[in-house]
Amino acid sequence: MNAETAQATMLGTLEVVPIDGPVGAEIKGVNLANVDDVTYRQIRQALIDNLVLLFRDQEISDAEMVAFSRLFGELDMAPPQENGLQAVDGLPEIMVISNVKENGVPIGSLGDGEAIWHTDMNYQEYPPLGSALYAQEVPPVGGDTGFCNMYKALDALPADLRKRIEGLSIKHDASKTSGGYLRKGFEEVSDVSQTVGAVHPIIRKHPESGREVLYLGRRLNAYIMGMSVEDSEALLDEIWSYTTREEHTWHHQWRVGDLVFWDNRTVMHRRDSFDAGSRRIMHRTQIADRPSA
Ligand code: OGA
Ligand code: MN
Repeated sequence: MNAETAQATMLGTLEVVPIDGPVGAEIKGVNLANVDDVTYRQIRQALIDNLVLLFRDQEISDAEMVAFSRLFGELDMAPPQENGLQAVDGLPEIMVISNVKENGVPIGSLGDGEAIWHTDMNYQEYPPLGSALYAQEVPPVGGDTGFCNMYKALDALPADLRKRIEGLSIKHDASKTSGGYLRKGFEEVSDVSQTVGAVHPIIRKHPESGREVLYLGRRLNAYIMGMSVEDSEALLDEIWSYTTREEHTWHHQWRVGDLVFWDNRTVMHRRDSFDAGSRRIMHRTQIADRPSA
């Protein structure tokens, strides 16, 4: 272990312990059920610095999770689940990620399979600035969540490739979830240049850090505007071949009570599959990044 990266630092009353890897820090000394404004500012700074924050041993209700998330800004409502249901009565901000079924109906999204690398809601005009994911039940093995540092991914691109993608934009398909399920109301995509979804520059400037960052969204049905489909596919494959390398990623093994908060503008994430016979229940909020009216 690198002594420098493992060094804990104090940010006000917070203890920030960087994860021994390319992204993430554990934050100690906070009860997320009760975060004051000063602590919130420190957490936000830690998020900008570390991109993914892990808070262990939290005991919070859905309403407390919403209240904590709201410190960061307005919340986006949970996107439609593949079954078209609203997961938590009275709290449309909470998205349930779960394989558990009640009376044969899944209580949440994404099932038990792999979720491919993605950023949340990249197919919207204003994707969330961040998401919080809170573990209520976890399987004994599997279901780990990986995070990819997209600053490092951008830095890893060869100079000529980086030049070729300057000024280009990707259209981000809205039809499929990261678990590969077709969203309610969408059709299978046959021509990626014709998908429905938002267009974003491949290289974006992070509004808080001021740094340039690679923004890929997800590979499935992505399309680089203005290119033939063949050229777009080839260029996307080339970019992706440098992106999700081990040296850019950290994989989190969940414990009940973990809350992980990621900067959705600077990381992609994915999830391992897990045994269909075990239960996994996660609750998520997503903080909006819309320009104020
Ligand atoms: C999410 C997500 C993966 C997981 O909540 O946005 O992709 O590990 N979750 O449940
Ligand atoms: Mn996600």
